[in-house]
Amino acid sequence: MEKIQQLKERFDAFMDGVDFVKSPEGLYEPVAYTVLQKGKRLRPMLCLLACDLFRGEYHEAKYPALALETAHNFTLIHDDIMDQAPIRRGKETVYKKWNTNQAILSGDAALVMAYDFATRTHRPVEVLSLLNQVLLEICEGQQMDMEFETRNEVTITEYLEMIRLKTAVLLATSLQIGAVVADADEKDQQNLYDFGIGMGMAFQLQDDILDCYSDVTVFGKVTGGDIVENKKTMMYLKALELASPEQKERLMALYSGEVAINPQRKIDEVITLYDELHVKEEVERVMEDYFRQAYVALDAVKAPEEQKVHLRHYAEMLSGRDK
Ligand code: IPE
Ligand code: IPE
Ligand code: MG
Ligand code: MG
Ligand code: MG
Repeated sequence: MEKIQQLKERFDAFMDGVDFVKSPEGLYEPVAYTVLQKGKRLRPMLCLLACDLFRGEYHEAKYPALALETAHNFTLIHDDIMDQAPIRRGKETVYKKWNTNQAILSGDAALVMAYDFATRTHRPVEVLSLLNQVLLEICEGQQMDMEFETRNEVTITEYLEMIRLKTAVLLATSLQIGAVVADADEKDQQNLYDFGIGMGMAFQLQDDILDCYSDVTVFGKVTGGDIVENKKTMMYLKALELASPEQKERLMALYSGEVAINPQRKIDEVITLYDELHVKEEVERVMEDYFRQAYVALDAVKAPEEQKVHLRHYAEMLSGRDK
């Protein structure tokens, strides 16, 4: 745990020294507001831990790690517009605090800044190319996520592919980039990438659960936001699988927009249905399976056990997250 703490503090201090605000302030302030908010900083931590795993230099990983966090925040600024989410990390989202046009533009600026940070290492071409690839995949996942909102039939296979793209690949690539700047071989890069996919899939499944069951004061996001937006999450898809014909009909009707119902009542009714069907336990099982797959991939990485233990601890911390 000490290693994790130490890297986190070192990286937080580094980020505190980065100046995100230039002129015009209207463009850069929303970027600073978001990036400096101190989320979990999961992606940079994975990058730094992966680099450290192979005894790479912290200084080779810190800018790529910053690039990953900045790029992640770009996706969040735009995601909140797309999902009409008013609160993130317990604070007003950028498009709410300013306006949608500014959120679009500040998000764009954050993305460009991320690219700039990504090159400040001794393997800039590889890092940039990995960042390009992953950001395009995130766009693909986000597009699928939006299309599913208005589609009646979405399969679990389609959902899994969607979350692989919108969430898991960024965790995987963060680890891979850390391995690249530590000059790890391709086999180890791949195994770490696979560790990140397993962890990322589990992470998004957990996010779907927390969206229904967490408290806004802890989770920092509005409870039931996915239900209001008719998101085809694993919660919803598992519920359909387990429901009686009557329950299935009601759930689909609630999600179709045909039923005139106020958002809070819709949330309450859907969650009551989830409770009756024990959907949460079912989704948790799938989530744990992905964590298990992740650990198998980590086992295959050629690095001393005393080094790998930090990544294992980090994944364990994540599996018990409540925000
Ligand atoms: C939020 O990511 C988006 C998802 C993939 C669920 P995080 O939960 O890592 O957000 P922050 O950066 O810690 O706020
Ligand atoms: C996260 O999906 C995917 C990206 C932001 C790329 P969500 O829409 O579930 O994330 P939150 O719940 O808003 O953080
Ligand atoms: Mg979204
Ligand atoms: Mg969202
Ligand atoms: Mg979510």
